[in-house]
Amino acid sequence: MDPPTLKPNQLRNILVRLLTFGVLVLAVRFAYVITLAGESCGYNDFCFFPDHLRLRGSASLDQNAAVSGSKDPLGVDLWSTKKWRRTVDYYSAIFQELIAEGFLAPNSKALCVGTRAGEDVLALKENGVVNSIGISGTASPPLILPGAPHRQPFDEASFDFEFSANGSLDRSGRPADFANEVCRTLKPGGFFVAQIFAKDNYSFNSFLDLFNCCRLIRTRDVDGVDTTSVREVVLRKEAQFLNPSKLGLGGNSSKRCLIPGYKRELIRKAEPLIEQEPLKPWIAWKRNLKKVKYLTSMADISFKQRYVYIDVGARSYGSSIGSWFKKQYPKQSKSFEVYAIEADRVFHEEYRDKEGVSLVPYAAWVRNETLFFEITRDSGSKDVEMSRGIGRRINHNVRSSSSYGEEVDKIKGIDFVEWLKRSVSESDFVVAKMDVEGSEFYLVPRLIESGAICLIDEVFMECHYNRWQRCCRGQRSAKFKRSYGQCLELFTKLREAGVLVHQW
Ligand SMILES: *[C@@H]1O[C@H](CO)[C@@H](O)[C@H](O)[C@H]1NC(C)=O
Ligand SMILES: *[C@@H]1O[C@H](CO)[C@@H](O)[C@H](O)[C@H]1NC(C)=O
Ligand SMILES: *[C@@H]1O[C@H](CO)[C@@H](O)[C@H](O)[C@H]1NC(C)=O
Ligand SMILES: *[C@@H]1O[C@H](CO)[C@@H](O)[C@H](O)[C@H]1NC(C)=O
Repeated sequence: MDPPTLKPNQLRNILVRLLTFGVLVLAVRFAYVITLAGESCGYNDFCFFPDHLRLRGSASLDQNAAVSGSKDPLGVDLWSTKKWRRTVDYYSAIFQELIAEGFLAPNSKALCVGTRAGEDVLALKENGVVNSIGISGTASPPLILPGAPHRQPFDEASFDFEFSANGSLDRSGRPADFANEVCRTLKPGGFFVAQIFAKDNYSFNSFLDLFNCCRLIRTRDVDGVDTTSVREVVLRKEAQFLNPSKLGLGGNSSKRCLIPGYKRELIRKAEPLIEQEPLKPWIAWKRNLKKVKYLTSMADISFKQRYVYIDVGARSYGSSIGSWFKKQYPKQSKSFEVYAIEADRVFHEEYRDKEGVSLVPYAAWVRNETLFFEITRDSGSKDVEMSRGIGRRINHNVRSSSSYGEEVDKIKGIDFVEWLKRSVSESDFVVAKMDVEGSEFYLVPRLIESGAICLIDEVFMECHYNRWQRCCRGQRSAKFKRSYGQCLELFTKLREAGVLVHQW
């Protein structure tokens, strides 16, 4: 008997068969791709795949291939990887559930907004939703057309179903525009399903606020494509837009805003207010700033439209914008627009060349009117300019001054509530610092009763009272008349109004 070895021609036969099989697999894949392309293009009112994108060799396609590097124009390399298949299967399972729940159907026109490599689009097609397409920055036909989530290349009411996978909305950088586009291209009654990462209540509510066209249908945690957990949110587009402003800021100015539960929750988690008047306030406030629970350390702010810092009573650039806000405030890598509200002309010059900082050359006040300020000129000081800034205070009762060393200056006050409503919106993230030399006792009540306070997410406020003096034991400052108790009351009122306020 011959030993069981392979003869040379047997080996060749096997090799040839293997090769043939490989070629066949590729051919089948190729045919599949072409069929997909042809199919979708036949659909009635618009063609997903314009002619110039359909086959390799066109100029735009070559460009895209160059951009995406290793990818074959038809994605064949990518498609044959295990990771690709695993990802497609993952999305497939997600869509099967959505189909079972009735949010998606085989005849739905579906869009994957900001898809990565089209795995979700292929999963839709494999589940029989043949009229599906994805958009992303780098086109990769036939599954993906070029298009940014915040500027979709589609007409309004084009889709029955839109999907945003794997936190692409979290990362978009322009969540409000992203949401507006979903609202525009979704048909009334259509569903938007988003997988989002930000799961704290603050960010979830910011997310919902973006979609004023939609109603929340359900939300739940599911396994992520490569994370343990992601929040899957299902929204349905309503026939009519819901009230765009829950706070009533548009109409009656005397409407108070509602305080959502999630804001109360943050306030409960914040550092407690200091109940006892500190004996050494010059130390106490510095120490307190170290204990502050910043909103941005408790909640994700990715779903906000703009990021704004308002320094009310900004003084010099270095006094808090440069030294504190730029360096210490946790910004979650967002870039903030800065407004410096400062009436004192001494400081105006240095704001001229500060990029990203807008100077508002007025004093924050309850209406537009000229205010009278006392300007203390330190008689011993050579630097009159400096002491002018440091020594001034608002004293609304004294409209003229006869005391030695002081003079009265006129400064323009601006209606801060009106300015705020004009400058920011509810979908912006707004943090403010307020050091207004006693005006807080007028400004805060007006902010609360006008509802404008709800435009501000977080405030750092210095409250001015007759505090103990550093220089002279047992003596109170004569500069301000209010007591510590009145300050505490003001802080408490703000927290009750749903504002995360910190003592500064
Ligand atoms: C999911 O998103 C992360 C970024 O958060 C990214 O690194 C990863 O590649 C994405 N995975 C898939 C399969 O899209
Ligand atoms: C969000 O709010 C709900 C109730 O509204 C609460 O049960 C839940 O614990 C909150 N989640 C977080 C992360 O605080
Ligand atoms: C505004 O307030 C007035 C008086 O409080 C009320 O009569 C009016 O209906 C309100 N308007 C709106 C649009 O809410
Ligand atoms: C108040 O002053 C600001 C700044 O000059 C101006 O834009 C605004 O229209 C004024 N408001 C009123 C009610 O006069």
